[in-house]
Amino acid sequence: MSQFTGHHILSVSQLDRDAIEKVFAVANMMQPYAKRQKRTTVLDGAILGNLFFEPSTRTRVSFGTAFNLLGGEVRETTGMSSSALAKGESLYDTARVLSGYSDIIAMRHPAAGSVAEFAQGSRVPVINGGDGANEHPTQALLDLFTIERELRYEGKGIDGLHIAMIGDLRYGRTVHSLSRLLCLYKNIHFTLVSPPELAMPTPVIDAIENAGHRLTISTRLEGSLNADICYQTRIQEERFESQAEANRYRGKFRLNQSIYTKHFQSKTVIMHPLPRDSRAEANELDNDLNQNPNLAIFRQTDNGVLVRMALFALTLGVEHLLTRYEKDVIWHSNKSSE
Ligand code: CP
Repeated sequence: MSQFTGHHILSVSQLDRDAIEKVFAVANMMQPYAKRQKRTTVLDGAILGNLFFEPSTRTRVSFGTAFNLLGGEVRETTGMSSSALAKGESLYDTARVLSGYSDIIAMRHPAAGSVAEFAQGSRVPVINGGDGANEHPTQALLDLFTIERELRYEGKGIDGLHIAMIGDLRYGRTVHSLSRLLCLYKNIHFTLVSPPELAMPTPVIDAIENAGHRLTISTRLEGSLNADICYQTRIQEERFESQAEANRYRGKFRLNQSIYTKHFQSKTVIMHPLPRDSRAEANELDNDLNQNPNLAIFRQTDNGVLVRMALFALTLGVEHLLTRYEKDVIWHSNKSSE
């Protein structure tokens, strides 16, 4: 039994380096199942309640995919207006009800603190899939897993990393959670680039400073950054009072091949939690970067399945049983015999 078994995953503050290494070790064991080279039915009979009260593509689908790949079934609800929350039902009551239908719940909600509130009413573990502008712990874990893998090719580790975080650092919950995880490592250099109004929240800055890391804050990209990672974020238009306010910042921090060449090293890894805003007025990560081998955005999304499989296995206490319930994949066998 690991420290994860039977527990909610609500915040990165629950994690230490040992816990992160455990998640990464189990995530690495998930490769053959995620690639559909093998099956494991270790969660046969288990049900995931996948509750997304805010838009999502990759978090919702990768949670569901991860659970299916472990042999479990998924029940979903999407959108606030199609749930009884729209009729005034409390998060507590919703949790009491839905935890009776599920063995584990993944949830996203637009209000900060909502997933923790929901968890108080749940009789099964709850995993935070993003609560407003607050946290996105599973994204931070998959981002860190990606960083470790990308740097490994360069013979580097996470200690000593220089990461540039660019864009909406105020409302971008992924950079809040990732920064807090990085605070667990040694000698990190954070370069934070945002308009002053969209700066990283003070509690996150305090955490970085209290951990003794190097911090450079700027309102624009300047000069050549010796960064290992360029982590671009989206202007979180859904968190602004009005579209007009969001429009003031849209497109201010776009990255294309020529801006990348001007400000970054030839090996700097380009990351983004996605979705990238590809509308002409924003164009956060230009399509001319799509062939750049350092663009890691789709490796991040693939890694999301591995990390979420690991979190399900650990939380439900089955990480040591994966191979016992392993099977061949029939459709691959058919393909190879054709
Ligand atoms: N990165 C992320 O949270 O993407 P979705 O909003 O599509 O889930």
